[in-house]
Amino acid sequence: MKRVAIMISGGGSNMLRLIEDMNGAHPARPVLVLSNDPQAGGLARARALGVPVAAVDHRDFPRDREGFERAMLGPLLAAEPDIICLAGFMRILTPGFVQRFAGRMLNIHPSLLPKYPGLDTHARAIAAGDAEAGCSVHEVIPELDAGPILGQARVRILPGDDAASLAARVLVEEHRLYPAVLRRFAAGDRTPILIGP
Ligand code: GRF
Repeated sequence: MKRVAIMISGGGSNMLRLIEDMNGAHPARPVLVLSNDPQAGGLARARALGVPVAAVDHRDFPRDREGFERAMLGPLLAAEPDIICLAGFMRILTPGFVQRFAGRMLNIHPSLLPKYPGLDTHARAIAAGDAEAGCSVHEVIPELDAGPILGQARVRILPGDDAASLAARVLVEEHRLYPAVLRRFAAGDRTPILIGP
């Protein structure tokens, strides 16, 4: 049974779907939800589902990214995770931290990577006149929002879409894609999952 730690920064809607899917015959179970914000709404939601939680406030480590990450390693390593899922985690991790979990750290990003790494992905897709947008689950490597793609879900950009309306439709697909990718990844299968519009 694979042990999964999930790192969040906010409401944790993706985290919830991952936890809810890890039951029955699923080859993984959640062992920790960790946030960089002690006020993150997702912490109470995880606790309500009986999942251990921890928080390390990144604001306690101004200009000290390594110190912040060392503090996170405490609860993280104590949970002995096999897999780490970044789910709405909004801090950039150093190459040293990422390398510790090489090949077993996943992230979900709201664009069809390699297009639009970074922020404001939906606004950028609309501004570019793209016909489609979507989300990607990828293995985390030191380069931001890069790494092998494990899954993608595509949605059409509709006339009149703004970033908020598009984000809402993409989020629905994130909630389908991430659990499906984690289930396959935890079973040792890295075949990408591609969901089309
Ligand atoms: C989602 O759009 C996700 O793609 C991005 O963070 C947003 C919020 O995620 N990484 P969640 O609701 O906190 O899971």
